[in-house]
Amino acid sequence: GADVEVDISAIEPGQLIRVMWRSKPVWIVRRTPETLEALSKHEDKLKDPNSEAEQQPAFAQNKYRSLKEEYLVLVGICTHLGCSPQFLKNGAFEEIVEGVPEGFFCPCHGSKFDMAGRVFQNVPAPLNLVVPPYQFVDDNTIIIG
Ligand code: FES
Repeated sequence: GADVEVDISAIEPGQLIRVMWRSKPVWIVRRTPETLEALSKHEDKLKDPNSEAEQQPAFAQNKYRSLKEEYLVLVGICTHLGCSPQFLKNGAFEEIVEGVPEGFFCPCHGSKFDMAGRVFQNVPAPLNLVVPPYQFVDDNTIIIG
């Protein structure tokens, strides 16, 4: 499949958009400063907080699992058996993980992921969500692939 070019200029803070890349759903989330700050507050609840299992390109093996802090790019497929997790925000995720206001919840068997796609403990998914290869061609355009 071809690489996919995405215009990210219209994504609002806190918003997630979906595109398809090689028949896979890819999410692009514009994270707010609050979202970024919250990432460091629940690392003791994660299976692989430092993303050592290489579920991302080398450029994204950092605290935010991204090229630019603000933009999270993830393959939207649960690492357990391939269902599509839901994006729960504005406190909705707190019913799933206490003290964590937003994240991704897989309805199939209950796996939970944070706003960097990192998997929480005590769920069936073994690994963090995959970060695909991508690059910025300019401030408003990402190429996935
Ligand atoms: Fe997501 Fe099983 S496929 S928890």
